[in-house]
Amino acid sequence: MDRIRVTGGRRLHGTIPISGAKNATLPLMIASLLTEETLVLDNVPRLADVGQLQRILGNHGVDVMVGGKRPGETPYDGQTLHISAARIVDTTAPYDLVSKMRASFWVIAPLVARMGQARVSMPGGCAIGTRPVDLLIMALDRLGAHIEIDGGYVIARAKNGLRGGEIKFPKVTVGGTHTAIMAASLARGTTVIENAAREPEVKDVADCLNRMGAKISGAGTSRIVIEGVSRLSGARHRVLPDRIETGTYAMAVAMAGGDVLLENARADLLQAGLDVLVAAGAEISATNAGIRVARNGAGISPVEVATAPFPGFPTDLQAQLMALMTCAKGTSHITETIFENRFMHVQELVRLGAHIRLDGECATIEGVGKLTGAPVMATDLRASVSLVIAALAAEGETMVNRVYHLDRGFERLEDKLSACGAAIERIAG
Ligand code: EPU
Repeated sequence: MDRIRVTGGRRLHGTIPISGAKNATLPLMIASLLTEETLVLDNVPRLADVGQLQRILGNHGVDVMVGGKRPGETPYDGQTLHISAARIVDTTAPYDLVSKMRASFWVIAPLVARMGQARVSMPGGCAIGTRPVDLLIMALDRLGAHIEIDGGYVIARAKNGLRGGEIKFPKVTVGGTHTAIMAASLARGTTVIENAAREPEVKDVADCLNRMGAKISGAGTSRIVIEGVSRLSGARHRVLPDRIETGTYAMAVAMAGGDVLLENARADLLQAGLDVLVAAGAEISATNAGIRVARNGAGISPVEVATAPFPGFPTDLQAQLMALMTCAKGTSHITETIFENRFMHVQELVRLGAHIRLDGECATIEGVGKLTGAPVMATDLRASVSLVIAALAAEGETMVNRVYHLDRGFERLEDKLSACGAAIERIAG
């Protein structure tokens, strides 16, 4: 297994290109199941999760063609996928595939909407919490699917197609909202989703579906209305930039010090995160080319932050912020309100010398003068990258193990950081 070695203490200077968003790419690829025509996605990041979803879609009979290189293209330009679900040959998504990537459960929506049936393995728990799918099932039920649970599989049937309905989510769920939108797009009649997730990735998927002929309004707000259509066509869509990758590198610059342009990044996708960084002492400016992040001289100030659904501070940046706060001049409090168990990074940060106390969903971080390098590992993507951020400011060498977690969600992380002067390298294992 590959490892990443970081020697701390270097400031970051230069440009980091921000890739297309993982959490938009995955549902966009799944949306291809809704049409027999080809969906072309541009700016797709090169990530292990994208490859894994390609395999999962392949099992349903979907062909994915990766576009070749174009003149003038850099290694950081996103790839183009041509995805064709002309013939769906299998409506079952088996356990061994779904358990590797939770988002693949979402195939249940387009499969039942287009094919009238789907049999999809329940994903099971994961490192960051129990993560049930009850609200996704509720949404399909509200659209007239007949649901059965058998042998660890959710079987959804709608012999005569889905019909529009009213879906009121008792709590905000990104996956629930994606599922409801995809299913309702091919349902007969009107669907209203209340308390919908407002995440930019939801809006990006709805924009793509509208290009495919869907009639979705209100995406990006908490009330989404969908007029079902009888069929969807192909389309071409460019994946929006990854706001979590943006926030992660912004925290890295705040941690290590320096001055970096996050190319292609959009401030409107990450205002809550950027506000916290400014409060922590970073200088942020949005330009046409992206977002410039700098910290020169000033120390890191402590913050009080609670994660929340968009437009709040994202749970997917909680671990990275905690890494930054380990070196703040004072005591910070970070509360995780979305997932009950998303603190696996805490004990690893403590191994680097951080002072963190956990009390239920709240972490108290007492800033320390310096961290010290050590071997660390983490059990999820965002926790892993928080260790890299901490390592950038730690004295000596940190070896981050289980790099495959990073490869799930960060494209060429070590190249992007080393191009800005970080002492970071991948060691093939
Ligand atoms: N929930 C339920 N029942 C459900 C669905 C969700 O109780 O049926 C709960 C979850 O357990 C959680 C909360 O609702 O407590 C929110 O979960 P949500 O459904 O919004 O999460 P998700 O759709 O499974 C996506 C992202 C996550 C991100 C969350 C929250 C993708 C592929 N995944 O997950 O991203 O943390 O939204 O913003 O879009 C990551 O990229 O590292 C990652 C974990």
